[in-house]
Amino acid sequence: MILDVRNLTKRFGELIAVNNVSLTVNKGEVLGIIGPNGSGKTTLLNLISGIYEKSNGEIYLKGERIDHLMPNEIALKGVARTFQIPKLFRNMTVKENLLVPAKALFKSHNYYEVEKRISELLRFVGLESLKNEFAKNLSGGQQKLLEIARAFIINPILALLDEPFAGVSPIIKDTIFSTIKAMNKNGVTFIIVSHEMPSIAYLCNRVIVLDSGIKIAEGTLEEVAKDVRVIEAYMGAKRRI
Ligand SMILES: Nc1ncnc2c1ncn2[C@@H]1O[C@H](COP(=O)(O)OP(=O)(O)OP(=O)(O)O)[C@@H](O)[C@H]1O
Ligand SMILES: [Mg+2]
Repeated sequence: MILDVRNLTKRFGELIAVNNVSLTVNKGEVLGIIGPNGSGKTTLLNLISGIYEKSNGEIYLKGERIDHLMPNEIALKGVARTFQIPKLFRNMTVKENLLVPAKALFKSHNYYEVEKRISELLRFVGLESLKNEFAKNLSGGQQKLLEIARAFIINPILALLDEPFAGVSPIIKDTIFSTIKAMNKNGVTFIIVSHEMPSIAYLCNRVIVLDSGIKIAEGTLEEVAKDVRVIEAYMGAKRRI
């Protein structure tokens, strides 16, 4: 088991955004997290990556408690993260966007190794020809690709991707699929938050469904899609998932 989340709760005043959620993720898994808007998916990723402090509960990474650590400490333990809205350095180039976190994270580093890793990652996500372009000039989909490349700079053991397919073209979606598949084959475990059921079906062996911060179902996408509570949670959209 790589990740063990126990009775995790996050309150924002009266609102309970994540309500007593427990889940485990095995090494090599690609776990999907789905649920209606506002169900607590992003908040859960923010808790695991240390961006939010939990109200209650425990988080263990490879058996070691991490819920008291700062985001950079959790990143250095091998947990990478991308954001629903890309958080890039807009006035820096594509390459600089990878160089800055590499330098910040690895205090003593071999410059040649860092350069090699950056080129490799940019080639992986198909952005090599744009390496000297300003991040602000990239398309929305290219920005998602850059965020994914940046997440992998730390050689993560666990990657948390928040809506990686939202608003990207089919070609870029394919690149993201193949990047995830290849990284997963190399041993990276994934948690993917997405509203796109076909993408979740293609990538994830298991999904967890959140509704109003509560874990209401867990299983294969086929299994949870038949669950009455899941259908009810999605009723607002007047369709089944
Ligand atoms: N920093 C915050 N302060 C106050 N409330 C917050 C904060 N972050 C999230 N929330 C609230 O917590 C709930 C869960 O939000 P969250 O962003 O986790 O949902 P989500 O499942 O990611 O939704 P979406 O599918 O729209 O991205 C929402 O009601 C949201 O308004
Ligand atoms: Mg979200």
